[in-house]
Amino acid sequence: MPDHETLPARSDNGTGHVGTYRRVLPISLARMYENALDWEHLPYVHADSFAAIECLDAGPWGWRAAVQDASGNESVIELSLDRACRRWITRNLEGPNKGAEIWTHAFPIDAERVDIVVDFFVPGVSEAVREKVGKAYAGLYSRLYDEDVQMMVERQRQLDSRVEAGADSVDLGPETDLETPVTVRLGSREFIVTRVNDELVAYPTLCPHQLGPLGSAPIDGGRVSCPWHGYQFDVRSGDCVSGQNCRLQLPLVESRDGRITVSTNR
Ligand code: FES
Ligand SMILES: [Fe+2]
Repeated sequence: MPDHETLPARSDNGTGHVGTYRRVLPISLARMYENALDWEHLPYVHADSFAAIECLDAGPWGWRAAVQDASGNESVIELSLDRACRRWITRNLEGPNKGAEIWTHAFPIDAERVDIVVDFFVPGVSEAVREKVGKAYAGLYSRLYDEDVQMMVERQRQLDSRVEAGADSVDLGPETDLETPVTVRLGSREFIVTRVNDELVAYPTLCPHQLGPLGSAPIDGGRVSCPWHGYQFDVRSGDCVSGQNCRLQLPLVESRDGRITVSTNR
């Protein structure tokens, strides 16, 4: 059992502690830290809770960002990660919950499980409503982690199944018979073959940013938008049209004697 003796006291001893949320997550500590530092996913993976985010500063230490919640409230939030203590602290610097702090401690159980303990500190909460406020925070964090765990587990699965892909090709048969979209596997990678304005294109099912599920995202005007952080790509050129420094590696789609071939020999 992890050592929780150093955690903040759970009774209200003047710290503003209103409650605790605890959960074992089926992921590694590395994924957990990655998720804590990942400010970009908030309005996408947690679209019910966050409407927009603008990063003010970020680094290995954590991040500070202007956040708009789903009700339109604006806050400045800072997350600081302390790896030595296996802990990150989220502070509300500005906004309706100014002064509130959320302390998360992570206790690895093994390589694939981590026990997290989240303590909520909200100043100025009276004894009469402390439990209610604590439960509201715990409910929010339960939802946020339900959403995060899907992303983290899927990312780990993709990382674990990654092997170096060699050049490969697949014959999809006569162009006239080809029903799209269709998923094809080339070596260890999967691609979606589809038509954009009658032009056949192929693009990877995994996002080059953090292996998000591009294959299940809809295409609009030749663009696909990743559901994890909202990066947008032109599936014809591979360009990242939302401006981030990455691009899709596209396979070659060729018509040879009326038959369609997709290959990574480009
Ligand atoms: S995984 Fe981050 S935008 Fe796709
Ligand atoms: Fe999250």
